[in-house]
Amino acid sequence: MEDQAEQLRSLMKEKARTEGDAPEFDGPQAARSNRKTRIITITSGKGGVGKTNVATNMAIAYAQMGKKVILIDADLGLANVNVMMNIIPQYNLYHVMRKQKKMSEIILDTEYGIKLVAGASGFSKIANMTEDERNSFIEEMFTLADTDIIIIDTSAGVSRNVLGFVAAADEVVIVTTPEPTSITDAYGIIKIIATEVDNLNINLKMIVNRVKTAVEGKRVADRMIQIAAQFLNLKVEYLGFIYDDPIVQQAVLRQRPFIVNDPKGKASVCLKHIVSRIEKTEFLETEGFGRFMRKLLGRDWT
Ligand SMILES: Nc1ncnc2c1ncn2[C@@H]1O[C@H](COP(=O)(O)OP(=O)(O)OP(=O)(O)O)[C@@H](O)[C@H]1O
Ligand SMILES: [Mg+2]
Repeated sequence: MEDQAEQLRSLMKEKARTEGDAPEFDGPQAARSNRKTRIITITSGKGGVGKTNVATNMAIAYAQMGKKVILIDADLGLANVNVMMNIIPQYNLYHVMRKQKKMSEIILDTEYGIKLVAGASGFSKIANMTEDERNSFIEEMFTLADTDIIIIDTSAGVSRNVLGFVAAADEVVIVTTPEPTSITDAYGIIKIIATEVDNLNINLKMIVNRVKTAVEGKRVADRMIQIAAQFLNLKVEYLGFIYDDPIVQQAVLRQRPFIVNDPKGKASVCLKHIVSRIEKTEFLETEGFGRFMRKLLGRDWT
């Protein structure tokens, strides 16, 4: 395991050295911007709590603020970010992993000002790639470094894939609803993150989705923050709530993200507040995109 991480580190050092003459890496331009890519992973304990809606609309909200955004659909089971935006991708991450396509060939421009990397069910096999496949996949992932924000939508619950993306993130956003089962499962995933992920600087944040009142959101978050601090010695930060709002279902049905379909709707306003809140928090990027790759691929999440 350690060997693998070490291999990856030296590979990246090697890449950094040769960057100037490696045009497929976008050259020194990408190297400069490596330092500022902020990676936000969206996850949850229970399924169906609103992760994909949060990830998609958050990505668009960032783009509306003038940021360069890439949305990655890392959901294993049902990759559906593209459905939310009415896009039918021909290729996805699986093809990159299998060296059938280059990242530049699968990354899609959308009408919403963000770029999309469509999901693949085969992505769970990431830890089983041969060394050669792994190295070439890393090279391909590096082409994503030239961006301000990467938002990663994951599947619910725990898998090595999700934990890899959690470990790699600058910020991990846990989505829950006020339902008791959703809260219990959110605590469950926080606990697993606390024990499985050895990123001491892990930055856990929480969004309470589908609330009736602001007070309800605060109550759910306060309780989670207190329990995580007491039992796991972990700091969780409350990012805010999103109202239970029919504009979300309407937008899903129309396959147009709610922030675009109904920008003044309650859910849209909540989401914009959340994004400005994330923006206000300090972003201590020390090792940049390299760290993302190391954390993502440097360990088998079995
Ligand atoms: N704020 C909200 N108000 C009303 N309905 C909502 C809200 N958020 C989500 N929903 C409903 O919940 C459904 C599921 O949302 P979404 O697909 O984003 O969840 P998910 O967590 O990504 O699910 P999965 O775990 O299956 O990936 C939406 O289609 C919508 O109908
Ligand atoms: Mg989803």
